[in-house]
Amino acid sequence: MSGTAPWWRSAVIYQVYIRSFADGNGDGVGDIAGLRSRLPYLKELGVDAVWINPWYKSPMADHGYDVADYRDIDPLFGTLEEAEQLIEEAHRHGLRVIPDIVPNHTSDQHPWFQAAVEAGPGSLERERYIFRPGRGSDGSEPPNDWVSCFGGPAWTRLPDGEWYLHLFAPEQPDLNWQHPDVHAEFESILRFWFSRGVDGFRIDVAHGLVKHPELPDLPPVQGPRDGEAGQRTPHPHWDRDEVHDIYRAWRKVADEFPGNRSFVAEAWADTPERLAAYVRAGGLHTAFNFNFLMTGWDAKDLRSVIDDSLAMLGAVGAPATWVLSNHDVMRHLSRYGRRNVKGWAPSERYEPEGPADLELGTRRARAAALLMFALPGGAYIYQGEELGLPEVEDLPEAVLQDPIWERSGHTDRGRDGCRVPIPWSGRSAPYGFSPEGATAAPWLPQPADWGRLSVEAQTGDETSMLELYRTALRLRREHPALGDGTLTWLDAPDGVLCFRRDPGFVCVLNLSAEPCPLPPHSAVLLASGPLENDMLAPDQAAWLAA
Ligand code: GLC
Repeated sequence: MSGTAPWWRSAVIYQVYIRSFADGNGDGVGDIAGLRSRLPYLKELGVDAVWINPWYKSPMADHGYDVADYRDIDPLFGTLEEAEQLIEEAHRHGLRVIPDIVPNHTSDQHPWFQAAVEAGPGSLERERYIFRPGRGSDGSEPPNDWVSCFGGPAWTRLPDGEWYLHLFAPEQPDLNWQHPDVHAEFESILRFWFSRGVDGFRIDVAHGLVKHPELPDLPPVQGPRDGEAGQRTPHPHWDRDEVHDIYRAWRKVADEFPGNRSFVAEAWADTPERLAAYVRAGGLHTAFNFNFLMTGWDAKDLRSVIDDSLAMLGAVGAPATWVLSNHDVMRHLSRYGRRNVKGWAPSERYEPEGPADLELGTRRARAAALLMFALPGGAYIYQGEELGLPEVEDLPEAVLQDPIWERSGHTDRGRDGCRVPIPWSGRSAPYGFSPEGATAAPWLPQPADWGRLSVEAQTGDETSMLELYRTALRLRREHPALGDGTLTWLDAPDGVLCFRRDPGFVCVLNLSAEPCPLPPHSAVLLASGPLENDMLAPDQAAWLAA
């Protein structure tokens, strides 16, 4: 890794799902005070930055992704002053801070939307959102057939007869990015936070902002490449080319500030090539590589997504980022615990097959971490993956809170299973998540056996997931071959991935059903499990000096 490359080309970024990270005031919900008290933990873990899910003032219809005031902190999480203190303290710990920004939609309680509802059909206020009359003789049919990502139609009708668009919950009306006010407002919000010292932003639904101006119905065939000779038919609201104009303007805003401020896009693109368009010169800095996250546990598939990602991103001069889990998908330990680990497409919802074998999932998650941290570029850790937390798949229906549960008519349990508050210490709930004497239980119940997965229980246990992450991150920081750069594949048996990074580093991962001999090496730097006779067991990975 070059000493002069900007930090974001190789950063390991830790995702703090703030509701579930650490509760400072004992109300059962994580907050800024809790996060501040755990900065030393993050420092010691060895990450470079934290991405914090939305902390803005919000009615919490979608846990903060429905923002009512982008320039203030929700009282559930703390105050603006505490946020400023957090940024300063994180910097003192050598950690960068990246808040989430939500530009596709606001809350229905945002003053703009309130004014739009008030002002009525045909008003200028309504032009900042996407209001339309309905179809049918009495306008009682939605304006088109778009569907909400959370289930049901993407349109809601107001008592005055007009419909408004929401690609997510009805409490999250979509903004109209053809309106100059929207551009000006978000550039001003970026400056507000940049001048408070944040190091960048994670851009929510970055691929959704621009809609086809005529709002046509969805195309009959939807697929990654459903046209002639690989021509992609543009989708009416996802990943449209015009969205990049917005990010070129945002890049200029980031560049007004010193210190390499950077953006990471949440863009669910069909192919690595489409993803690379977000990070061309003059555009955003990085984008989550969800193609990697969505790939099954299969050597050929993983190798091809790694190659395509590096080729497409490399062609535009951008680094890759690698991610296995986040607050929207089933935790990878539980995905990998399925005998048949399927890949899936951005347009699908992941459906696991059969029950999880958590022992298998843990073995594979350990190996996957060594793969991810050895690949060229940056990486993301979703809070709790360093503890080997599984998805909580048996939350009682009565406690489910994700809007998906209601909106899907109770057919999809939603994302609460990966959002359960994390265990810090002790043998029973709240496992140090809330302080002694807390007035409320954690907002989602924690499993009875999570004491063994707590930070306290794993610290100092060389066989634990936490110590594997700590060691891997330390080696990654120290080893000149890791981080930004390139890789060279080495010959390996079927089902085994083996690549070299210079100088002197080899990563090998056995996805086959048979043990395989380690490739030539002078030392084993780290292994995801015990090695016997220089053999790598199935679902094991190792880092070698060679
Ligand atoms: C993104 C977020 C998700 C949220 C949605 C709507 O996909 O990651 O949690 O529900 O956007 O803002």
